[in-house]
Amino acid sequence: MSVAGFFAAIPLTLLGSYDVPWVPTRRRLIPHIMRLARVGPGLRFYDLGCGDGRVAIEAAKRGALAYCVEIRRDLIEKAREAAEEAGVAERVVLVNKSFFDVDLSDADVVYMYLLSRVNAALRPKLERELRPGARVVTLDFPVAGWTPVHVEKHVVSGMQRTLYLYIRGVSDSR
Ligand SMILES: C[S@@+](CC[C@H](N)C(=O)[O-])C[C@H]1O[C@@H](n2cnc3c(N)ncnc32)[C@H](O)[C@@H]1O
Repeated sequence: MSVAGFFAAIPLTLLGSYDVPWVPTRRRLIPHIMRLARVGPGLRFYDLGCGDGRVAIEAAKRGALAYCVEIRRDLIEKAREAAEEAGVAERVVLVNKSFFDVDLSDADVVYMYLLSRVNAALRPKLERELRPGARVVTLDFPVAGWTPVHVEKHVVSGMQRTLYLYIRGVSDSR
């Protein structure tokens, strides 16, 4: 079964009150995400549903101001500890809220490792709030109705993983 098929098969009842279960991005993929999103000093990076903060922390290590948006308090605490341990706590903004309630108008990059149905639910918000040129990278689940400017595949631990890069104003215009 593909990664996307595996997640899509998770019954909604198992997700509890959250939109997506916590499944961390494999660390080997993170440098590819940084490269695709062109993460560098001074930009604003948002991980929507940041889990233990690993992707946001890497963005902060590269000089970005990283917003780690996570609904679970226990994971926000993990992310706080990890950011402190990595010495980048001053560049990691921990936001313990639903990503549906966070303003994205200053984002340069948004990263999402969510589910297709959640990407679809977020799409109108992304189209409303993101500035033209903002980059959106998703792992394994595309944004239906958008055209990626780049797609790349990586095999990690025997599983094929797919990264999609979108650019606001390009990918979402018909
Ligand atoms: C597949 S995990 C990805 C974690 C992290 N982005 C990574 O790549 O390692 C999805 C995360 O989204 C969080 N989440 C689910 N629904 C959310 C919501 N409405 N707002 C914020 N976070 C949410 C989950 O708790 C989980 O940590």
